[in-house]
Amino acid sequence: MNDADNTPVSASQPLEERVNNRSQRPTSDAFKAFMASNWAPSPQQTPERDAVAGHAADRRRAISELFKGERLVLPAGPLKVRSNDCDYRFRPHSAFAHLTGLGLDHEPDAVLVLEPAGEGKGDDGGHHHATLYFRPLAGRDTEQFYADSRSGEFWIGTRPTLAEFKARLGLATADLSELELAITKNVGAPEIGGISVRLVRKVDENIDALVDTARYNTAKDPENLDLGVFDGLDEKLTEALSELRLLKDEWEVGQLKLAVAATVEGFTDVVKALPRALTHQRGERVVEGVFFARAREEGNELGYDTIAASGNNATVLHWTRNTGKVTAGELLLLDAGVEAESLYTADITRTLPANGTFSAIQRKVYEAVLDAADAGFAAAQPGAKFRDIHSAASAVLAERLAEWGLLPVSVEEAISPDGQQHRRWMPHGTSHHLGLDVHDCAQAKRELYLDGVLTPGMVFTIEPGLYFKNEDLGIPEEYRGIGVRIEDDVLMTPAGPVNLSAALPRKAGDVESWMAGIYQEAEGQQP
Ligand code: GLY
Ligand code: MN
Ligand code: MN
Repeated sequence: MNDADNTPVSASQPLEERVNNRSQRPTSDAFKAFMASNWAPSPQQTPERDAVAGHAADRRRAISELFKGERLVLPAGPLKVRSNDCDYRFRPHSAFAHLTGLGLDHEPDAVLVLEPAGEGKGDDGGHHHATLYFRPLAGRDTEQFYADSRSGEFWIGTRPTLAEFKARLGLATADLSELELAITKNVGAPEIGGISVRLVRKVDENIDALVDTARYNTAKDPENLDLGVFDGLDEKLTEALSELRLLKDEWEVGQLKLAVAATVEGFTDVVKALPRALTHQRGERVVEGVFFARAREEGNELGYDTIAASGNNATVLHWTRNTGKVTAGELLLLDAGVEAESLYTADITRTLPANGTFSAIQRKVYEAVLDAADAGFAAAQPGAKFRDIHSAASAVLAERLAEWGLLPVSVEEAISPDGQQHRRWMPHGTSHHLGLDVHDCAQAKRELYLDGVLTPGMVFTIEPGLYFKNEDLGIPEEYRGIGVRIEDDVLMTPAGPVNLSAALPRKAGDVESWMAGIYQEAEGQQP
């Protein structure tokens, strides 16, 4: 369905203008008046302030401190076309979500602008005034209401008004039509009284173009414009926004706990559905679909594409095709996360014996990975380095691989920087920050990330694995086709790491009893 464009189409019309060659909507004034009349008025919303609003204000205040006197521009991003006139479900850029507190599908084309104010004369004693520019809900007496399939209420349901978001977010709001001036006015070199602009780039190409044009038009020597300098400005803002997310506030931790709780439910749903998955030609898709149902029912979406990988597919690190069978006697690796409506996501992996019981060799590999994970937890103490988690987990895996006669060198050589032979079977990092993005804080400086100090308030994964491919001729046959990962979501506290995903069993025996308990309960259920 799409009827947004009422331009008559003719055979001579260029192809790119024929998106709506199915439109049969009349263009007469009489039709327009009829369609826009006699609708009940939109209900007036007087919402309360969102619980996140104060936290989002604190985040804006922290960024304000770093960029005094400069205009900061954070786009949410536009709708993205999936095919022709069908868009993907909208998700705002994470930096925008963080600084506004908005989640769900709010709001295509929106832009948060932090306008410099005098020192201490901005919002909350800061140095900027924040305004959220967006396309507010159009009245039911407008053409947009019934004719715009991307933003009209008739087509997509109700949307926020300026007053509604102002009340919910505690933030000044303005119509998108005022954005261009807000971004471009007085742009120029500070030494001649202009305002320097910093932009989160590559989120909305229209905003990139607007800022680039303003920079070009106000440059002292536009023909020799040093784009590198401007890129530096923007990169610094993106980096600062990423680093701001290294520590989660209380509200964010609450959201991550919600996401983890829904994910735990999703894993339970998958265990319940395994008997059906085992009979299906594409059992992995059964697993994927069952988890997705939980993600949509409890949260906003998936935080990333589910990896539902059985047998040898579990050794393919980013197996999201999920077209394989789930076979009794093989292991099913499920790496999945529910994204809450606030857009915070869980990221959990469990490796389950498809028929409920680990074989001896599967258990041996599983327990090595579990020992590595436990070593990672032991290393994850406040004051330690982020990279210590990976070192501790990798050392355990290298030791086991050596014990099993798989490592061609000594453990010492393997764990040395130039060795790393164990990476043939554990090629990824053990931990990453987790939050609005599954791989959160990705633009933070290395010294604050990998070389950073573990600090209360950080949330990250611990996720060692071992992956023995069918195609690996360097190992005995009994190992081939076994892939194991155990991934938990961890909150650092002053007392040490707290496993947020501990509700899902980790020990091999506990996994078996958990699965058996689910099947016993299901048998006792009346239809
Ligand atoms: N699911 C992506 C990851 O574990 O990093
Ligand atoms: Mn992960
Ligand atoms: Mn994962």
